[in-house]
Amino acid sequence: MTRDGTVLLGVTGSIAAYKAVELASRLVQGGAKLDVVMTDSATRFVTPLTFQSITHRPVITDMFATPEEYDIEHIALAERAEVVVVAPATANIMAKLAAGIADDMLCCTILATRAPVLLAPAMNVHMWENAITQENLARLRARGFKIVEPGYGSLACGVEGKGRLADLEDILTALRQILDRRSDLAGRSVVVTAGGTQEPIDPVRLICNRSSGKMGYALAEAARERGARVTLITAPTALPAPIGVEVVRIQTALQMREAVLKAVPDADILVMAAAVADYRPATAAKSKLKKEEYPLMQLELIRNPDILSEVKGNLIKVGFAAESENMVQNATIKLKNKGLHLIVANDITEPGSGFGVDTDRVVLVDSRGKVKELPLLPKSEVAHKILDEVAVLLTTSAGASGGRTHQQ
Ligand code: CTP
Repeated sequence: MTRDGTVLLGVTGSIAAYKAVELASRLVQGGAKLDVVMTDSATRFVTPLTFQSITHRPVITDMFATPEEYDIEHIALAERAEVVVVAPATANIMAKLAAGIADDMLCCTILATRAPVLLAPAMNVHMWENAITQENLARLRARGFKIVEPGYGSLACGVEGKGRLADLEDILTALRQILDRRSDLAGRSVVVTAGGTQEPIDPVRLICNRSSGKMGYALAEAARERGARVTLITAPTALPAPIGVEVVRIQTALQMREAVLKAVPDADILVMAAAVADYRPATAAKSKLKKEEYPLMQLELIRNPDILSEVKGNLIKVGFAAESENMVQNATIKLKNKGLHLIVANDITEPGSGFGVDTDRVVLVDSRGKVKELPLLPKSEVAHKILDEVAVLLTTSAGASGGRTHQQ
């Protein structure tokens, strides 16, 4: 079954469930085909009939209802959803989604969907602030879930604080942004590199760096979400391979160079998020070096080629600059030297930014000198912000507007 532009609205058991009725109404008025899935506890706050009256479609509550009656089961719902929004999302559904629990129709559908999922949490302030909820939130973000954070105000439980369902306008804006991004790279071919290359000293030892690969993997997933055909050229990482992406595994800088040069002739966009080792041992010993034979070990290192500089042609080139000082200035020099359209600079000394973490604070600098500072964001969102810029460059850059599109 193919997607047909349907929005799936999940409603869970919070007093804010009544606001989901207005959300459903606005979505239907805006022309969306709307499937509504309610958890059992949501039906204690609002009846399925209310949503059914708005959508003129069956509202799904029971995982075991006869499919003939509804002609709906979770895989079909998951497949046809263009986007999923859970509003309100309770602490309970967040915990279940973070853990992959699939014990009701909504969890099963979300686990089975490849569509982007937007969560609009609503709960008591202490439940929101609880470290468990915050850990679940971080885990969901790291896995690409989008979040519209709750607002401040007086809560139904009688206290003031953060926990109110976000304004409907904010939820609708976030949904619109997701839908706008969904197909802006359709038919485009994107090559992303990720991870830190490893340069062998002998069969056991190697020179490597601190890159976890998270940014590159987030970029590959984000490009796929936006409809691109994605090749991910990756050095060894501890990350699972993203679904729907062609993965090319390499170890060394020279292997990455070969894989990139092979992939780029067909590409519209190259994003070099990999931390390429600048040097490799001049010779990699064939057998393990024994320390008895080397009271003093001296390694001779030679420069690796600069992959980005070697890539020429009619494509958008995006590089990264991991800097510890003079970030924008150093990034701009790299942008010019490597002939890039865009460079993503980050200060690796700043907490929450750089290697190994799930967040990043970056500055985007383009070849026209435009500098855009982004706040601290999950890497999945940083990836989308980078691709937002790339999507604009694709339509405005003479270099890449040569119709290098590929039908999927
Ligand atoms: N890069 C590359 N080939 C290399 C080294 C780096 O293609 N041999 C790419 C990286 O993937 C990144 C950009 O160039 O997109 C900048 O990498 P970075 O390590 O910050 O800069 P370097 O050019 O290596 O300069 P330096 O390490 O001296 O800061």
